[in-house]
Amino acid sequence: MSAINLRTALPGPKSQAILDRRDAAVSKASFRSTPVVAAKASGATVTDVDGNTFLDFTAGIGTVNVGHAPAEVADAIRQQAEDLIHLCAIVGTYEPYIALAEKLNSLVPIAGPTKTFLSNSGAEAVETAIKMARAYTGRPAIVTYEGAYHGRTLLTLSLTSKYALFKKGFGPFAPEIYRVPYPYSYRCTHCRDEGSCNLTCFEDLERSLITQVDPSAVAALIIEPVQGEGGFIPAPYDYLRKVRALCDKHGIVMIADEVQAGFCRTGRWFSIEHSGVEPDLVVMAKSIAAGMPLAAVTGKAAIVDAPHLGGLGSTYGGNPVACVAALKAIEIMERDNLNQRAEQIGEISMAHFRAWRDKYDIVGDVRGLGAMTAVEFVKGRNDRTPNTDAPLKIVGEAYNRGLLLIRAGLYSNCVRTLVPLTISDAELEEGLGVLEESIAAVM
Ligand SMILES: Cc1ncc(COP(=O)(O)O)c(C=O)c1O
Repeated sequence: MSAINLRTALPGPKSQAILDRRDAAVSKASFRSTPVVAAKASGATVTDVDGNTFLDFTAGIGTVNVGHAPAEVADAIRQQAEDLIHLCAIVGTYEPYIALAEKLNSLVPIAGPTKTFLSNSGAEAVETAIKMARAYTGRPAIVTYEGAYHGRTLLTLSLTSKYALFKKGFGPFAPEIYRVPYPYSYRCTHCRDEGSCNLTCFEDLERSLITQVDPSAVAALIIEPVQGEGGFIPAPYDYLRKVRALCDKHGIVMIADEVQAGFCRTGRWFSIEHSGVEPDLVVMAKSIAAGMPLAAVTGKAAIVDAPHLGGLGSTYGGNPVACVAALKAIEIMERDNLNQRAEQIGEISMAHFRAWRDKYDIVGDVRGLGAMTAVEFVKGRNDRTPNTDAPLKIVGEAYNRGLLLIRAGLYSNCVRTLVPLTISDAELEEGLGVLEESIAAVM
């Protein structure tokens, strides 16, 4: 039996009525990838208000790695809500906050004493990590990457790349931010992924510490070990090792932004673990709490403790209901070995993607780590010009066939797949089949 079950033309009449209300009531600047109007969701499926069931290959942009609404998480939330919905960690203490901090301290790939601060969103956690690094080093500058996405608050938007979509018209941006090329092998200006990579791109970073900013002024370097919004690009492990050595040499705090790549998505708790590199701070959000708003910075105790007393705070950050959801989600990930499942999902997906690259001229690159996988579309097999039309059409074709997708990439020319890690093999194959049909329809 297939998971996808479409009962009406799409969008159905009830969905359309709500979409009309959305247009009238909600800012037009708020983009939606598909017209789905969700009524409920479970595991890897979403059912809309007209009773149509879709397979979800977005997982809330990587937020529900444990699947939509696991019963155990819903129970934990319900029970906590009956006892204590909120207090505010500035007012007092509650045990779930402490238990979660202890758990995160033990999960991050950092030797030695670690500590945690909880907040609401990935962007807020990135800002917090920057504050910690500045307080610890007494330095102002931050190094970030082309293609980076760290959020939409002013400081994180300043760190984020991709002007036209995210930044246009919103400046002036925060000062003391220096941007260097990300090791994006398919579009590398040095080797173009043609078998000759010797990490010349690392010299771009070294040069920027001569031409743009002195390393003695740099508080932190922030990197997504697998770039997310930028197009699901894993940094070569040797590149990450070189970054670690450079940070050590100059006393720069190395921040790993694991907001999208964390919590089993790539087959490890955190994607940087593949390289063996120990960052100084890890920023997390999204799948940390199975869809409840929660984020964290965990890292070396001396850095996390560096801001002055009262320098960090948040009204809702580390809300007790979100904390118990996180504790339960992490328990499920451990118990059900979702790291291993992510690797299997990645292998199955990549086998299909590689076949599509041979079959369809517009499939340029296929890549990923674990279950964080993407297809990059180009004009033709021998023309890497980004194809920005195809992914938009593919997302539309897929929706009409009952599959939810979202794009990615500096040029918005990729389709990313972030399936819930609890998906069955049958559901995965069904969704991949629909994705292929959608690519074929657009060819
Ligand atoms: C790598 C990364 N960092 C930070 C953020 C910002 O997180 P949030 O949307 O929760 O503020 C995102 C969101 O997609 C992200 O992918």
